[in-house]
Amino acid sequence: MATDLLHLDAIHAHYGESHVLHGISFGLQKGHVLALLGRNGAGKTTTLLTLSGLLACTGGQIYLDGQAIGSMVPEAIAKRGIRLVPQGRRVFASLSVEENLIVAQQKRETSHPWNIERVYDLFPQLEPRHKQRAGTLSGGEQQMLVIGRALMGNPDVLLLDEPSEGLAPLIVAEVSRGIAKLKSEGLSIILVEQNFDLAMRLADDVVVLNTGQVAFSGTHEAVQANPDLATRHLGVF
Ligand SMILES: Nc1ncnc2c1ncn2[C@@H]1O[C@H](COP(=O)(O)OP(=O)(O)OP(=O)(O)O)[C@@H](O)[C@H]1O
Ligand SMILES: [Mg+2]
Repeated sequence: MATDLLHLDAIHAHYGESHVLHGISFGLQKGHVLALLGRNGAGKTTTLLTLSGLLACTGGQIYLDGQAIGSMVPEAIAKRGIRLVPQGRRVFASLSVEENLIVAQQKRETSHPWNIERVYDLFPQLEPRHKQRAGTLSGGEQQMLVIGRALMGNPDVLLLDEPSEGLAPLIVAEVSRGIAKLKSEGLSIILVEQNFDLAMRLADDVVVLNTGQVAFSGTHEAVQANPDLATRHLGVF
């Protein structure tokens, strides 16, 4: 815990009366990719919503660099360096690629600040489309753009909710290459994925959720040493 950049300590979350997260605990170390896995409805998106302040944490605590952030509003959490790329890749459809990036810009103290050129370096497909309306981009380009938008906020922690969902394999490879580059540059990432192979290519650590509880938590190597884990909890055969 002392070495965790982000630490969840027994967090609970509700949608109205419905109790969805039942005391989730895990930690993300600086510079690591943590894959958050689990079947449909396991609570992955809910965990990310709670971490970004979009859903109230109804019990437990979240620590960023040792400071409690569990009751902060989303704007305050974003300012402290946590950025969510939500499931479903929502861009501002009527704005251009460039405008989408500009409006997402947020200054933070960081050694290597993000700007539009750096996003185009990461995802070169976006550059020739810089004047194009974001709503007319392909699914893969929209995914790259929403990741770029989050990066323009200069995060320390990036939360990615199913970035490969519904994309063709070649495009998944491009998005995955981008995430690997971010990892190599030292960004700390929580990656929610249904694509087990993709998650395992990128992850240092793995947490598996099952009905709002942690069913497994361990290193990449521990997952490999536990071959029936995927079949038991993820529906992967
Ligand atoms: N807005 C909501 N109102 C009520 N219940 C919800 C809401 N969103 C999700 N749930 C419920 O909370 C539980 C966890 O859902 P969540 O979306 O976190 O799962 P998930 O692991 O992200 O699933 P998926 O892989 O399908 O995206 C599910 O039982 C779901 O039906
Ligand atoms: Mg989800």
